[in-house]
Amino acid sequence: MDHIRNFSIIAHIDHGKSTLADRFLQLCEALTDREMSAQVLDSMDLERERGITIKAQSVSIKYKADDGQEYQFNIIDTPGHVDFNYEVSRSLYACEGALLVVDAAQGVEAQTVANCLTAIEQNLEVLPVINKIDLPAADPERVKQEIEEIVGIDASEALCVSAKTGQGVHEILEQIVKYIPAPKGDPAGPLKALIIDSWFDNYLGVVSLVKIVDGELFAGRKMRVMSTAHDYMVSEVGLFTPKRLKVDVLRTGQVGYVVAGIKEIDGAPVGDTLTQSDRPATERVPGFKQIKPRVFAGLFPVDASDYEDLREALAKLRLNDSALHYEPETSQALGFGFRCGFLGMLHMEIVQERLEREYGLNLITTAPTVIYEVLTSKGETLQVDNPSRLPPLDQIEIIYEPIIHADILVPQEHLGNVITLCMEKRGVQKSMQYLGNQVAISFELPMSEVVVDFFDRLKSATRGYASFDYNFVRNQASNLVKLDVLINGDRVDALSIIVHKDKAQIHGRALAEKMKEVIPRQMYDVAIQATIGSHVIARETVKALRKNVTAKCYGGDITRKRKLLEKQKEGKRRMKQFGTVEIPQAAFMAILDVG
Ligand code: GTP
Repeated sequence: MDHIRNFSIIAHIDHGKSTLADRFLQLCEALTDREMSAQVLDSMDLERERGITIKAQSVSIKYKADDGQEYQFNIIDTPGHVDFNYEVSRSLYACEGALLVVDAAQGVEAQTVANCLTAIEQNLEVLPVINKIDLPAADPERVKQEIEEIVGIDASEALCVSAKTGQGVHEILEQIVKYIPAPKGDPAGPLKALIIDSWFDNYLGVVSLVKIVDGELFAGRKMRVMSTAHDYMVSEVGLFTPKRLKVDVLRTGQVGYVVAGIKEIDGAPVGDTLTQSDRPATERVPGFKQIKPRVFAGLFPVDASDYEDLREALAKLRLNDSALHYEPETSQALGFGFRCGFLGMLHMEIVQERLEREYGLNLITTAPTVIYEVLTSKGETLQVDNPSRLPPLDQIEIIYEPIIHADILVPQEHLGNVITLCMEKRGVQKSMQYLGNQVAISFELPMSEVVVDFFDRLKSATRGYASFDYNFVRNQASNLVKLDVLINGDRVDALSIIVHKDKAQIHGRALAEKMKEVIPRQMYDVAIQATIGSHVIARETVKALRKNVTAKCYGGDITRKRKLLEKQKEGKRRMKQFGTVEIPQAAFMAILDVG
């Protein structure tokens, strides 16, 4: 146990966490150079394409230190995006220390601060590391000062490294041995293993990543999942090196995987405790805090016969993503689907992409919305996560909307743009502090204004230099109305949105215009109306057209004709028939373009 070091790498997106982790593997000769060609910690396709780390992963490596002893390092990877804060905190439960990696040119960013504070709260030893010192713009002294001022930890001994060239990486490994404490725990006690992550493998069933807090977990013995009291025979335990390496036993302090033939999808929930069946522990390891989804959207299969597949796929995803919520929903326009809850927009996009890519589903997603609290004239309080469920205007007393506190760190030259953006989003400034070249500014903003496009807008307003972190603070009464969209006189429930009254006119007009652009011409004129209650605030018409779009190509260029047909087919893929009108996916997301 003295020779185990469990740690995480905390870094803002793109500050070099994965590159550094790969260097560690290389120095510890866990992989050959050829295997190194791809970054290993980011294992999913999707992650590689998006270049961000989504699911926490772990790697165990052996390190022969300068003191001549061999150590086992368990690196628990953590994601860097604001939507995935909860995964950071759950990865940190398995660790005794953390490396805080900061880009020597970019400096400290809001997200890094938030994650680092989580680590400090959980009593982890935090070692600051300044990366990318090979860059001409690197300014390690300034970054050290920022770490001390903004994060509040001593950075005088911070290592200056380049994950790219390998410079200074050996020193980090030595500091890990020296400063990060070995795990504690009772090797002789009854087994307690904390489930850090679980996922479904088609061949093995449920695989769980666990940290052995007390005792030992043997292959070939029976274990119990404490929340359900179900017993299972452990068929395999092992380490990710990063390849799967079977071992006979996982001992106190180790982080490894366990397979026990669990077939039911929620058989080993994240945050639960495993114990041994013949000598069970009496108490569970204190679990992680339950996270609540804050953004909701409807997910509907384009092909109604995929409904059951969608249900099963959601259940599998939920196994290792406890933040994902779903329940059946029926829409007049879209048929049977699910109302899903997400942490934020990125989380939503990723879930949607995984469903489509890994499970081959073809989906229509409705515009994201937050949860509104509605006090009705009868004195009831409703939680509304679906605009089409908002009671009629005359039955509503007050609508409360969620408000967040946003911390933004931005270089001084972009401050003006950030303030303008936040004001436009109905923000109220709370504080402002100059920290060297950066400004830390905080705002309270309606969450509905943030989930839609705030992050992208902030990035473009600051050329990518601002960083941002947010927390829910309270619900607040607000003057909100429901904006409906009527197509040929019929309300399309899945297109309704809730907006602030002052913005309703502009939104309504922009939405109708956008609908006109995205709804393809049909055999008949299509009337689009935006309404509030019975009041029509905007109207557009999509003119009729002959259906055969290739007709206008007058024979001639066959490739062009084929392209057009392809395009038409592609468009069809994500269309829903509404009466005689086909509505494409883009229409359901039109609100994102008019926000
Ligand atoms: P996420 O997985 O998205 O959170 O990013 P990350 O923090 O893991 O960053 P990643 O390791 O993917 O590195 C981001 C970019 O920075 C890549 O293009 C790396 O090649 C580059 N990079 C990483 N370390 C260094 C370094 O020391 N010097 C230079 N010049 N570039 C680096």
